[in-house]
Amino acid sequence: MTTSTTAGKLDYLVDQVQELKDQGLFTTIRTLDSAQGAWLEIEGRRVLNFCSNNYLGFANDPELVQAAKAAMDRYGVGPGAVRTIAGTVRIHTELERRLAEFKGVDDTIVLQSGFTANSGAIPALVGKGDAIISDALNHASIIDGVRLAGKADRYVYDHVDMASLEAQLEVASTKGYRAMLIITDGVFSMDGDIAPLDEIAALADRYGAITMVDDAHGEGVIGRGGRGAVDHFGLHGVFDIEVGTMSKAFGVMGGYVAAKQPIVDWLRQRARPFLFSSALTIPDTAACLQAVDILERSTERVDRLWDNARYFQGRMRELGFDLGVTMTPISPVILGDEKVAQAFSKRLFEEGVFGTAIAFPTVPLGKARIRVMISAAHAREDLDFGIERFERVGRELGVIG
Ligand SMILES: Cc1ncc(COP(=O)(O)O)c(C=O)c1O
Repeated sequence: MTTSTTAGKLDYLVDQVQELKDQGLFTTIRTLDSAQGAWLEIEGRRVLNFCSNNYLGFANDPELVQAAKAAMDRYGVGPGAVRTIAGTVRIHTELERRLAEFKGVDDTIVLQSGFTANSGAIPALVGKGDAIISDALNHASIIDGVRLAGKADRYVYDHVDMASLEAQLEVASTKGYRAMLIITDGVFSMDGDIAPLDEIAALADRYGAITMVDDAHGEGVIGRGGRGAVDHFGLHGVFDIEVGTMSKAFGVMGGYVAAKQPIVDWLRQRARPFLFSSALTIPDTAACLQAVDILERSTERVDRLWDNARYFQGRMRELGFDLGVTMTPISPVILGDEKVAQAFSKRLFEEGVFGTAIAFPTVPLGKARIRVMISAAHAREDLDFGIERFERVGRELGVIG
């Protein structure tokens, strides 16, 4: 009886899941039985990994693993508390110092993830009497951060459209706000295009707005030695706030805000995930420190990532695949129809390539794709294998001629 009552209460969820399945929008989650790397073991198969964010191959790097082990021997595993009570360990402050040096900013604050960095920083920085002006395709964690800053007025500008941004700034500037905050992704994760931070900074300067960039996919990828989007445009000291994540190129987990001193000082007092959620774990923190070390030592991995990306994208375009407007190693193979994307991904998997289909709501309806994430961990033969399989499945499904 209890079961049937519960089932009745949850019928709407059962129906929603069925609807997703009918529309080809239900995501099948695959489970890995190996460490991250160019190749993965999944469901008893060895498959080429074309879809993780492990840009530089750090996720299973022996130096990072060793650093995590050594830190656990000294400090244990868990932080035991939030940062502001008893959870700040020496390696947290060391990581904040090293990241600030790496990014060329006054200071950084480290949080548990890129998601909490965005969703924590935005409502701490702006509220009632302020305005947020956000790119239409910004990441979900920015959108949630904007929602949490519920009392601030919101303006959305068309994706990377500077005329649209200026129009929004013009309207906002007549309202007498205390602060106006422009927020953009640095590299847009689904298309791989780069926001024109130089033009955004110029407009912000004209209208007196604060600038914030989420550099999740720029960190470790663009800029000198992977120093990110602000470095890529030479805007040190001009762009006010950089949000970073250490879950992608850094190969670990964790987020941070790199900014001018008053901003970081305030976030240490008021960013809710910093105050109300426990600190980044010991092994994560130590592994992130090691990643900074390696990035400061050499550009070799970043260079290899770009060589691989240029090779892969060049050959895929020659074959006739549509890779959209990417300017980075993110390589979206745009297929359009959601069901075609799912069928493509399934056939690739059977052929030994792991490339997840990405569909609505992550990308707009009718823009489904396999987003290939190129990594420095890929050898040339790995890329050749993947390209050959894409060609085979692409012809079979009539995507290319
Ligand atoms: C643009 C962007 N921002 C933030 C995040 C969140 O990062 P994290 O995985 O560290 O929470 C992601 C990850 O998907 C992202 O793509």
